Amino acid sequence: MKKVRKAVFPVAGLGTRFLPATKAIPKEMLTVVDRPIIQYVVEEAREAGIEHFIFVTGRNKAAIEDHFDVQYELYDTLAKRGKEEVLSKLRSQQPEAGEISFTRQQEPLGLGHAVWCARELVGDEPFALLLPDMIMRAQKSCMKGMVELYEQTGENVIAVEECDPAETGKYGIVEAGDTTAGGGFEIVGMVEKPKPADAPSNLFINGRYILQPEIFDILATQERGAGNEIQLTDAMFKMRDTQKLHGYRYKGETYDCGTPEGFIEANIAFALERPDLADKVREMLKARLT
Ligand code: UTP
Repeated sequence: MKKVRKAVFPVAGLGTRFLPATKAIPKEMLTVVDRPIIQYVVEEAREAGIEHFIFVTGRNKAAIEDHFDVQYELYDTLAKRGKEEVLSKLRSQQPEAGEISFTRQQEPLGLGHAVWCARELVGDEPFALLLPDMIMRAQKSCMKGMVELYEQTGENVIAVEECDPAETGKYGIVEAGDTTAGGGFEIVGMVEKPKPADAPSNLFINGRYILQPEIFDILATQERGAGNEIQLTDAMFKMRDTQKLHGYRYKGETYDCGTPEGFIEANIAFALERPDLADKVREMLKARLT
């Protein structure tokens, strides 16, 4: 079984729900407390043992590349000013040379198309896929748990979590089959945004995947689906002809930072975790709410 060494981060979307903020700034660079959203997601991948980080970017996304680069002048100025603590924090988060690659999706034709754009950089090996909109917080990170399940099952692993049964219409929902090795289950159906009455479960796909490279051949010929976009879900479902999709039940918190309310909630939750901010933020919230 091949190890999962590479992770793909599709960051070429337009981020229309955050306009006008995203007119000139990538959505993934909006900050949750003091770090851009994308950094939380890269840290999750690193914690899961990922060694190479692949970004599928688009126009107006150069700030993401700059964020993960060495900022020589800044580091030099911080060193001269004796700001060793912040400097070592920046250095510890800095990817090593050659650990990170960028490719472009010239047109935002959908998530499936964005993933397909990474085919040459991924090559013939399984890869992790992390949607950077979703920030997760748990004892064991979502991707780490998925890698552990993958090491027992092989094939493909898709993370799911429970939503309010009345809200299935917001998500991709899976139909669960038999339990498989390592506490996972076989995914036997997937429905995009079903009405509660038509939903096969309340388990939604939360934006974390481990996929086999065969997905690229399917995506290459994939017709456009919902929203006239090339849909990843459709391609994953076709993989079931030759290999299994294993569901991983993630237990932890998820913040959908692709929506203003999820983004605000993430800021509050992460600020309340910070020893230097928690008391002030709690007081601020109390004062607002009374
Ligand atoms: P979303 O549809 O949630 O993100 O795609 P978006 O298009 O950026 O935002 P809205 O809906 O206009 O507000 C989920 C993820 O897939 C990426 C996005 O960058 C996001 O991380 N994506 C989506 C691409 O990289 N390319 C695409 O063509 C579509």
